[in-house]
Amino acid sequence: MAQYDTLDHDVLIIGAGGAGLRAAIEAASMGARVGVVCKSLLGKAHTVMAEGGVAAAMANVDDRDNWRVHFADTMRGGQYLNNWRMAELHAKEAPARVRELEAWGALFDRTPDGRILQRNFGGHRYPRLAHVGDRTGLEMIRTLQDHGIHRGLDVYMECTVVRLLKDGDRVAGAFGYDRERGRFRLWRAKAVVLATGGIGKSFRITSNSWEYTGDGHALAYDAGAELVDMEFVQFHPTGMVWPPSVRGLLVTEGVRGEGGILLNREGRRFMFDDIPENYRAQTADNEEEGWRYVIGDKTARRPPELLTRDHVARSIVREVREGRGSPHGGVFLDIAWIKRRLPNAPEHIRKKLPSMYHQFKELADIDITAQPMEVGPTTHYMMGGVRVDGDSQMSTVPGLFAAGEVAAGLHGANRLGGNSLSDLLVFGKRAGEFAARFAQERPAVRVDEREADAAIHEALAPFERPSNGAHGPYQIQDELQDFMQDLVGIVRNEADMRRALERIDRLRGEASRVAVSGHREYNPGWHTALDLRCMLIVSEAITRAALERKESRGAQFREDFPEKDPEYARFNIVVRKGSDGRMELDRRPIPALPAELAAVIEEMK
Ligand code: FUM
Repeated sequence: MAQYDTLDHDVLIIGAGGAGLRAAIEAASMGARVGVVCKSLLGKAHTVMAEGGVAAAMANVDDRDNWRVHFADTMRGGQYLNNWRMAELHAKEAPARVRELEAWGALFDRTPDGRILQRNFGGHRYPRLAHVGDRTGLEMIRTLQDHGIHRGLDVYMECTVVRLLKDGDRVAGAFGYDRERGRFRLWRAKAVVLATGGIGKSFRITSNSWEYTGDGHALAYDAGAELVDMEFVQFHPTGMVWPPSVRGLLVTEGVRGEGGILLNREGRRFMFDDIPENYRAQTADNEEEGWRYVIGDKTARRPPELLTRDHVARSIVREVREGRGSPHGGVFLDIAWIKRRLPNAPEHIRKKLPSMYHQFKELADIDITAQPMEVGPTTHYMMGGVRVDGDSQMSTVPGLFAAGEVAAGLHGANRLGGNSLSDLLVFGKRAGEFAARFAQERPAVRVDEREADAAIHEALAPFERPSNGAHGPYQIQDELQDFMQDLVGIVRNEADMRRALERIDRLRGEASRVAVSGHREYNPGWHTALDLRCMLIVSEAITRAALERKESRGAQFREDFPEKDPEYARFNIVVRKGSDGRMELDRRPIPALPAELAAVIEEMK
């Protein structure tokens, strides 16, 4: 049997994006010995793909904003399937987390009087997104890294975790290997925080990079934790559609937040067709400023492009399907039109959206200050994930915590843009704090060596198998991405999803026989063979949960059940591994809102 190194920590964080770093900082500040495992290089994380801003009700631009409005917006965006305790904590604590980041050195854009500037984003009633041009996630990662690095963290870069270890019911650490040399590592820890991000690589078109194969979701599932809301995958309305090599790359919602409009091939601003009726009744549409709506005795204007992401993505799909799309199968996003009201528009665009300017100039030879972009939906974010306690972020497995995208609850059926960055700050901190506390209060763990041996055996199995001309790991991955995109994507129906389940089952068989050649050093084929297991678990969970929810709500659109069904507003769908190893589903009733939160929702309606 291959050798492995054993490393000891109080708290092990798996994932080093924003949530992992924030958790690590908090746990270390409480005196815990913290290890951080990252699949890629430290700081290379999907956090940087939240470009347009971090949502926090600081009221710097509109003094009507406060935690209650943010809470109500988040619940409405999530179609009331949210874990309301998480939505409450998030709305209350986000402003403090953003100010803390500023104190640690994050350089936000400023209002004329020197406060943190906030911009509009879809589904947020007031300008709420604190931002750094269109590089907010990047600046947050930089700040957290700088701050974290002085906390004495042990960082293990380019390591993949293949299994969580248990001591009885309790989590006891993790087992994995370093991707460069293929050397095995056993991390023993009293508490583990999953912060592995999302699952985008199960789909063909995605803003996610290669790391996002649903590792944390699958590790938690295998360890006996519950997953929830797995049917809700967010398709961001605007990814690049051309050239093909960059299809899916994110075009920040910040473009629309800065006044960008969506046009079909007829040059029509089609999102005006989609203003909800209850707003439309009160409004006079205005091409320049959007539609006007009334809140109590006040009025405001919203561009229709800033409806929630699920809504905008579906409208784009409709335009394309009905033959009104752009030449490469998207629609047009035009920010250059703001020159009608802003004399220095090109300079303003380059200042507020520097990454978008360069992205389109370098990759598509488009000058966004003068020409429209071609955009279409891209798989961006997973609302579903590990079911956690709202306060502590602990899963149903003692000692196993989750934060950020891998944890579910806050966003319900659909996430509002910018709420991911505030999510990872608020709940990264909480997960780190509660994991450190858990570790302080519990005795040491014992790890059964046979678990490590079994993990090694499983990891090395692809080298032992004869290469018999069957599909290799990349072919299996490609096929999965293609049919998940086509059969379980933005528009779903029962027949397609049943076909997807059959194909997942067949691919699981193929993956269990997949062979790789070469040896453990620098072997990406081997890494992909091991990733397949996670991708298949996650794909099955998404498909089964989507089949179970026979209605359309938030990010899930069923053409065979196109309406919302109030019955389905009463529960979340929970997925777990049964004792026979098969996936089990359950309907978990949503606890009633406490009176004070119900009153907030009522007031904001
Ligand atoms: O469009 C964006 O900048 C993405 C933000 C987010 O996903 O929160």
